[in-house]
Amino acid sequence: MTQHQILDGKKVSTLIQAELAEKISKRVEAGHKPPGLAVVMVGNDEASKVYVNNKIKACEKTGIRSKAHFLPRQTSAKALYELIDELNQDSKIHGILVQLPLPEHIDESEVTNRIDPNKDVDGFHARNVGHLVLRQPGLRPCTPRGVMTLLNHYQIDPKGMHCVVVGASNIVGRPLMLEMLFAGATVTCCHRFTQDLAKHVKQADLLCVAVGNPEIVDAEWIKPGAVVIDIGINRLADGRLSGDVDFHVASKKAAWISPVPGGIGPMTVATLMQNTYEASL
Ligand code: GUN
Repeated sequence: MTQHQILDGKKVSTLIQAELAEKISKRVEAGHKPPGLAVVMVGNDEASKVYVNNKIKACEKTGIRSKAHFLPRQTSAKALYELIDELNQDSKIHGILVQLPLPEHIDESEVTNRIDPNKDVDGFHARNVGHLVLRQPGLRPCTPRGVMTLLNHYQIDPKGMHCVVVGASNIVGRPLMLEMLFAGATVTCCHRFTQDLAKHVKQADLLCVAVGNPEIVDAEWIKPGAVVIDIGINRLADGRLSGDVDFHVASKKAAWISPVPGGIGPMTVATLMQNTYEASL
C-alpha cells in the first residue's frame, strides 16, 4: 500500500485566482479596462447552472467583469447567433463562453465557430483547436490546461510517463491527450470501443479519467504509485458527488490523486479566468 497525496485543485485554483486578481487590479489602476467575460446558457440544465454560477463567482473574485445571459430552452439558433455577433463586436467583452450542452435544435459546432476565435476562452473554435494541434499560441481548452497547471504546481512532470487518457471527447479527452503528448508523455487514449480497458489502465503511470460514469474504470486496476487525475463528476443516487474513480480504493494504490469535488473542477474555473485575462491583453 502506498501513501497517497492529494492534488488539491481547490487550493491551487485559489492561488491562481489571487495572482490574477492582483495582476488585474494593477492593470485597472494603470488605466486599462477590466477583462470582460460573457457567459451564455440556453435552457435549464441543473448541472450547467451550477457550473455557470461558479464561473460568475470566480469573475467576482478576480476582478473580471461578467455578464450572464440566461436564455430559454426554445431560443432559436438565429437568436443565439445574433447574440454572439453582438458580443463579438462588444469591446468590453474579451471572452465569450456558451455553456454546453445546448438544446438539440442548436448545432454546437456552428455556435462554437461563430465566436470570434480571439474571444473563444473555451478553446473550442476550430481555429484554436488547430493552433493546439500545431503547438501554436492560441486559447487552450480549460480542463486540459487546468490539469497541466495542477501537475506543474506539484512538480509532477509527465515527460517519459505512460499516460492513459480514458475518454475521447472534444472538450477533455482529445485536447488532454495532446497536452500530455506535448509534455513528453507516451499517450494511450481509451474510448467506448477499446477492448480490454483493464490492460491499458494497469499500465498507466499517469491515469486521466474523463468519462462521466463511475462504473467504467475499476480502481483496483490502478498501478501502484500511479498519478490519478479524476475528471468525472457524477451525482450518486444518494445525492453525493463522486468522480469517475472510486476514491477510497484508488487512494490506497495511487501516489497522487485528484479528489472530486475539489480537484479538476476548480482548476477548470481558474483556467477560464486565466484565458479571459490573457484574451484581454
Ligand atoms: N460543459 C461542460 N464543460 C464545459 C466547458 O468547459 N465549457 C463549456 N462552454 N461548456 C461545458
